[in-house]
Amino acid sequence: MIKQSKSYSKNGHIAIVLDTEFKSIENLPDIVAEQAEKFLSSDDKTDYIKLGEQFIFFVKKNDELEKMRVAGYEIRKTLAKSAEEIFISGEGAETLALAEGLALSNYQFLKYFKDAEKKRYQLKDISLLNTFDEKAISRLNNTTKAVYWSRDMVNEPLSYLTAPQLAKEIQSFEHVDNLKVTVFDKKKIEELKMGGLLAVNLGSVDEPTFTIVEYKPKNPKNKKPIVLVGKGVVYDTGGMSLKPTAGSMDLMKSDMGGAACMAGTIYAAAMNELDLHIIALIPATDNRPSGNAYVPGDVIKMYDGTTVEVLNTDAEGRMILADALAYSNELNPELVIDAATLTGAAVAAIGQKAACVMGNAKQEVIDDLIKSGYNVHERLAQFPFWDDYAEEVKSSIADLKNLGGKYAGMITAGKFLEHFVKSPYVHLDIAGPAFLGSTDNYKGTGGTGTGVRLLNNFLENY
Ligand code: BES
Ligand code: ZN
Ligand code: ZN
Repeated sequence: MIKQSKSYSKNGHIAIVLDTEFKSIENLPDIVAEQAEKFLSSDDKTDYIKLGEQFIFFVKKNDELEKMRVAGYEIRKTLAKSAEEIFISGEGAETLALAEGLALSNYQFLKYFKDAEKKRYQLKDISLLNTFDEKAISRLNNTTKAVYWSRDMVNEPLSYLTAPQLAKEIQSFEHVDNLKVTVFDKKKIEELKMGGLLAVNLGSVDEPTFTIVEYKPKNPKNKKPIVLVGKGVVYDTGGMSLKPTAGSMDLMKSDMGGAACMAGTIYAAAMNELDLHIIALIPATDNRPSGNAYVPGDVIKMYDGTTVEVLNTDAEGRMILADALAYSNELNPELVIDAATLTGAAVAAIGQKAACVMGNAKQEVIDDLIKSGYNVHERLAQFPFWDDYAEEVKSSIADLKNLGGKYAGMITAGKFLEHFVKSPYVHLDIAGPAFLGSTDNYKGTGGTGTGVRLLNNFLENY
């Protein structure tokens, strides 16, 4: 936890953010001042000295906040596992960003290790010696907590995280004020005729779930809710159109990254007590082949009555999202945003360093999202959303087909989804950044929780 501390306790680990001069800190030996002066006149961005067991880090203040977050990661990498507290001396947004980077880097997913306790970082407190806005600190802690939750979900394998289990995990948010969770089970989903979700679920032994999280504070700024929709495919084998390439299935426990993002976002928004009425919709199932699985050629009737010809059962995300997006129409939203690990095409287009955004909402809204992306360094690249792309998902025997042409698979997937939404709509394809095979500084390895910080920044400024 990031917190305020009135004083620096002797022999504690400390990170000192330096601008132009070193201001002496009580209880630190003189050698620190000498080293700080040396550091200031060097080209180094970060450095440290060790006095016995004690680490003293120096970080140059940089108004590029991302550099400060990455410096936080460097500190975590250097600091002893056993360190329980670190003090930070420094002011301004730069210092908070350093603390944020350190807090995010302190994440570990150790649940399945026999010797987890040996591996665990002991760091509990990141103690700020200067004065900060209390609300800014608590928002940072809440959002970090939601990112941790989101990463945990993405890292959990199917052997634990089935669709009913994901719904249960989301129900654990209910202790937060003004937040309500409703879970539709298979029977209810059948009654509602959510054909897309039921079709993808046919091959599964676990039941599908449709989870609704509503956060409604006393006097929200918006009269009509903002609806967030997240793809909750807890595992994607491709179904009968089994994933063809070696290794392409290995990371598919992460195919609920959109669900983790949107549930995590509303969790953070509620903990942060934002003045907004927000509803998150999470359709969830795994996608696998079996005796009764849906097959290419099937025609499925979706929640809103649209019929879809299935041409590839691996394009399952759009099948379950279609029902959730159509359900959003009943909530009369002012804005609908979805997040999904939807297409390999998104990864092919821009890799893992950013997510793709497109939509029919006002450009102002998309620009705000892009700006938030820069603020928190969860960058977004906008793609076109021209209507002629929608031609490619028209079927000869049904209203739509779930497969576009050879090119622009990310955009045709987005156009397929747009068909189901009546309100201003933004689509985020997070297939690239949701899960990382190797460590990318404070974003970590495995589930990144991407989108939670982005959307919270967007909602805070909404
Ligand atoms: N979950 C995948 C997309 C994906 C690919 C996410 C790689 C993360 C990394 C999605 O369900 C899928 O299989 N999409 C297909 C769609 C195609 C069959 C139209 C794809 O992109 O190949
Ligand atoms: Zn798929
Ligand atoms: Zn998928």
